[in-house]
Amino acid sequence: MRDRYGRDIYYLRISITDRCNLRCIYCMPNGIVNYIPHKDILRFEEISEIVDSATEIGFSSVRITGGEPLVRKGAPKLVGLLKEIKGIKRVTMTTNGILLNKYAEELKEKGIDSINVSLDTLDTKKYRLITRNGNLNDVLSGIEKALNIGLDIRLNVVLQKGNVDEIKELIRYSKTMGVSIRFIEYMPLDSCINLSEGSFVSSGRMIELIESEFGPIEETDYVVGDGPAKYINIKSIGIYMGIISAVSTPFCSSCNRIRITSNGIVKPCLASNIGYDIRNVVRRGHKREDITDVLIKAIDDKPLKHHLTDGNSNIEMRKIGG
Ligand code: GTP
Ligand code: 5AD
Ligand code: SF4
Repeated sequence: MRDRYGRDIYYLRISITDRCNLRCIYCMPNGIVNYIPHKDILRFEEISEIVDSATEIGFSSVRITGGEPLVRKGAPKLVGLLKEIKGIKRVTMTTNGILLNKYAEELKEKGIDSINVSLDTLDTKKYRLITRNGNLNDVLSGIEKALNIGLDIRLNVVLQKGNVDEIKELIRYSKTMGVSIRFIEYMPLDSCINLSEGSFVSSGRMIELIESEFGPIEETDYVVGDGPAKYINIKSIGIYMGIISAVSTPFCSSCNRIRITSNGIVKPCLASNIGYDIRNVVRRGHKREDITDVLIKAIDDKPLKHHLTDGNSNIEMRKIGG
């Protein structure tokens, strides 16, 4: 469905849990977490019903996010349920990769179309620091497993002062593994404010660093997935890699998505403080249009651009799943 600025909104990001098995410093700066109670979390049948209704207004792509989606019991089963919905062309997931080794096969079996895995560093100690005690080897073995069984995966690196020195190693790793990599500008969400000062690395700076190591790059129109990454060609080593520059070059004019939080709030934009409750609609007697009405309200409310840098967005990344 087109929004009032003519953007085609067909991509639904669904957070299935606010829980996580890591505590990344940029996502949970205080490490203290109050979880949403289980009874308030959308059940898989409810998610499935929402997605089924959403296809009526043109939604065709779903990304499952968290917190960490794989900590929710039966997450691969949800992939299977969503893949069965007529009109849904792509079901994807964004994960921190800690449990990927365990679930890769089941995800493949259920028909997942692609998986984005967060990998900010290749240094064991730094990984422990960034994630507050995560084990890098768990993620690396998950990536290997996923590639070995033929899953389509991409790496997400949020680049900031603490890991910018690894840009070359991370590019070489992606080349060696034959996996696509995307560098992401750090977004100063409310919950990340401690880290934002002096820590930001712009996409312009990323390109300078890449060119100083690998020689000239070429900007391309290469399209992968449904997301906002712009791909560049690093000619000297023959790889395409993505840059997501939400802050220095916002991509809002081509935004194609809305989000649903794990407790059933539909959010027009990653940076919206507002949202519409869909849980109470699916939980009481309702018609299909009652569900699509909530989605349409959120689409109608989509801002022309985000206000991430105004300093008044009250957003917790783990609740909206990026
Ligand atoms: P594909 O390109 O289809 O693989 O998906 P994606 O890049 O949209 O998904 P992913 O979950 O991997 O997100 C990558 C980065 O983009 C994360 O840092 C997200 O927070 C960010 N991101 C995703 N959607 C939006 C959005 O609507 N607005 C902004 N500003 N950032 C977003
Ligand atoms: N800025 C940019 N990306 C972020 N992510 C988490 N927090 C931030 C932030 N403040 C990324 C994760 C994951 C995706 C869901 O969002 O690393 O790849
Ligand atoms: Fe890190 Fe993602 Fe967990 Fe946040 S939700 S703490 S970004 S792994």
